[in-house]
Amino acid sequence: MQFKDIIEKKRDGGKLSREEIEYFISAYTAGDIPDYQASALLMAVYFEGLDREETFYLTDAMKRSGDVADLSAIPGIKVDKHSTGGVGDKTTLVVAPLCAACGVPVAKMSGRGLGFTGGTVDKMEAIPGFRTALGQQEFEEIVRSVGMSVIGQSAHIAAADKKLYALRDVTATVENIGLITSSIMSKKLASGSDAIVLDVKTGRGAFMKTLEDARQLAEWMVDIGKRSGKKMAAFITDMEQPLGNGVGNSIEVMEAIDTLKGRGPADITELSRQLAGYMIYIGGQASSFEEGIEKAERSIKDGSGLRQFRAFVEAQGGDPAITEDPSLFPQASVVLELKANGGGYVSALDAETVGKASQLSGAGRAKKEDPVDLAAGIILGKKAGDPVKEGDLLARVYANDEGKAKAALEVLESAYVIGAEPPETRPLIFEIIE
Ligand code: URA
Repeated sequence: MQFKDIIEKKRDGGKLSREEIEYFISAYTAGDIPDYQASALLMAVYFEGLDREETFYLTDAMKRSGDVADLSAIPGIKVDKHSTGGVGDKTTLVVAPLCAACGVPVAKMSGRGLGFTGGTVDKMEAIPGFRTALGQQEFEEIVRSVGMSVIGQSAHIAAADKKLYALRDVTATVENIGLITSSIMSKKLASGSDAIVLDVKTGRGAFMKTLEDARQLAEWMVDIGKRSGKKMAAFITDMEQPLGNGVGNSIEVMEAIDTLKGRGPADITELSRQLAGYMIYIGGQASSFEEGIEKAERSIKDGSGLRQFRAFVEAQGGDPAITEDPSLFPQASVVLELKANGGGYVSALDAETVGKASQLSGAGRAKKEDPVDLAAGIILGKKAGDPVKEGDLLARVYANDEGKAKAALEVLESAYVIGAEPPETRPLIFEIIE
């Protein structure tokens, strides 16, 4: 097969066959196709698109380009949850224990990621002693005995995506629905769960800014997951302002613990009970979505979700006492306050700008080699719609470096708009695609 012919076919608007797509992925992963030819194909795809069948073939080939986890030895319907990423999104840390407490095993491989804060594994590493680098056998054993585990995604999962994403990033070919769908879903499908609930974010702090784009991505991912034999659903949820009040690593774990104790912020509590409710339903432990929500709620009220979280932390070497003693988390040496310089309402709180401020405080990475400061981040005192008086505390910045704290504070100030009127309320959950 001549790779130039494949480029030419897509350039001229043709539909690639399964064989051509599989050849591209296996030869590119093996280093037999140079980056300049792969880039040319990516640009042709960017302009001409992939249909859903081509996207399915691409996803499947990418999934098989690395290790594919086999979780079949773990009894029950294993359910995974994936968020397309947002500011202050710590729902996995709430939802996974609620599901496990209701008998739904959660085996989660999670990335570290670039951006506003660390990924879920960075956040968990804020717990003293917590290990995220487990072998497959230990990972499965913990899911079997404790009901849940969260580990760092192995470099061998969807190996082609690692290489291709890096190439897309530097060739301006990230923003294509077929390429985005195959990139996300190849990793999810290789992680081995039986069912996947997606949380596709929309709004200023989201990868997909408009509801229309978020809906399209959700529909494509649900379709590709189903074609691959998985039970699927996608929630489309708001990311206009940050989720909850805490943005950071240890800061977010503390807020997740508060939510499991029944005293978390309203938005994170509501989203967690709905996502967990759906996962409990799709995982076969409730006969309807509503019953799943009731079960998730009960796991907060009766403390079983929190007990589940403690057992999971202990199983991975962490100190479960952090659920009762927040001083055991890494502490920031610098704390700065942002005060309102006028009265009215918070008429906007830009999630993306809060995320940038969090990154500047040290909580997130700009380059993948960067360390994250586990104690750094932001706690918001006021959110969109809240009334404010001059001098009220809007937010606190936590850091371990005076310069970083000041830079974060300056950016954070620009995230808040104080006006005479509250903003129009946006739904927390726009729709659920099944
Ligand atoms: N996240 C991914 O993992 N892949 C993409 O292509 C876009 C976002």
